[in-house]
Amino acid sequence: MNNFDPENFLVLVVDDISQNLQVVGAMLDEEGYNTTFATNGLQALDRAAAARPDLILLDFMMPEMDGLQVCDRLRADPKTRSTPVIFLTASNELQHITQAFAVGAVDYVTKPFESQELLARVRTHLELKHARDTLSITLEDLKATQIKLVQQEKLSGLGKMAAGIAHEINNANNFIYGNLHCLNQYINAFGKAFETLPEEIKIELNEEYELDFLCEDSPKVIASMERGSERIHSIVNNLKRFARLGEAEVKLLDINETLDRALELLEPRGKIGIRIDRQYGDLPPLQCSPALMEQALFNLLENAFDAVEATRKPGKISVRTWKEADEAICISIRDSGIGIPPEVRSRIFDPFFTNKPVGQGTGLGLAVCYQAIVSDLSGELGCSCPEDGGTEFIVRLPKQLKTLS
Ligand SMILES: Nc1ncnc2c1ncn2[C@@H]1O[C@H](COP(=O)(O)OP(=O)(O)OP(=O)(O)O)[C@@H](O)[C@H]1O
Ligand SMILES: [Mg+2]
Repeated sequence: MNNFDPENFLVLVVDDISQNLQVVGAMLDEEGYNTTFATNGLQALDRAAAARPDLILLDFMMPEMDGLQVCDRLRADPKTRSTPVIFLTASNELQHITQAFAVGAVDYVTKPFESQELLARVRTHLELKHARDTLSITLEDLKATQIKLVQQEKLSGLGKMAAGIAHEINNANNFIYGNLHCLNQYINAFGKAFETLPEEIKIELNEEYELDFLCEDSPKVIASMERGSERIHSIVNNLKRFARLGEAEVKLLDINETLDRALELLEPRGKIGIRIDRQYGDLPPLQCSPALMEQALFNLLENAFDAVEATRKPGKISVRTWKEADEAICISIRDSGIGIPPEVRSRIFDPFFTNKPVGQGTGLGLAVCYQAIVSDLSGELGCSCPEDGGTEFIVRLPKQLKTLS
């Protein structure tokens, strides 16, 4: 580590003999380290958890709680688990050394020690810790970037495909939907004509073709075909939004108003008793593609309604908006619904991933949200499952917005 500066590090020294603390403390002070002290095991645990030192120099022999017990408890606490511990002791028995490493010490120095040796070891372990911390932060960043890239790649692949097929499917579907209406009229006309036939012919035709049943059942068949066609229409529309077909126009949008409009559409669904709690902050208008953003916020709220309904109990949806100091717009949508099982959390933004019963979800809702918030506006879309149940989605839209190309 080229720019090693002892001032950036805090060392906790633990010893029941205050004279020892003074000696080691003076040595570290002189070198420029920050220091903190403890004179017994319990105090050491408290200081380690509160001050979060970068390294601990721990006396082996102490009354009440010895160094081994302290080290063991440090390793058990997530806050101090990775803090390196160097044992300081007058004993150089092999058994003690082995025990020290067994409870997770990184090094072992026997008293009386040479100050140069101790300082060299302290520095080495601090450098190692620093390198390890930097590596794990870099690794986390890399993972996050990788997830984002994979997600964007998936979305852009699907977007291209959607653009290609949405139009074709829509044409064919419009054809079906339009003709279903005509077919309904023809069948009605046929039914009326049938009624005008003489009774004996009706009976004869009925016996041969079950015309009564056909007249009664065909409207149901047509209605179910209409529902199917409407569903195709809604899937294709979602796909088109997702692929941003014809929606690139950028305007200023009032987010609070948009949330209200979406809630207005969804509120009639809350028959089982869904309480809506709104806490809106003062927001600047958002520069975006309004249709896409409206759809994204609607999708988040719709999922919240679905999740509460799935509990079959009355519930609550809290919608909060606020502006951060850097003018970023934040939206939180929290529901008391069924929550998201940990094993599916990484997949919810995948296009076509749905956990809903067959026929109820297309699995494109959150993919559209991701597109509108993250890909188009460089915003953030996070999801968490609070301990007291339900789900919270948090949207963050930065002030400096990239306009759509
Ligand atoms: N608020 C929520 N609570 C619980 N689960 C959720 C919530 N939001 C999303 N999910 C889960 O994420 C999955 C994907 O959501 P998404 O909105 O993309 O699709 P969908 O709701 O299943 O279908 P669509 O929105 O197309 O009708 C859902 O099936 C659901 O399992
Ligand atoms: Mg949805």
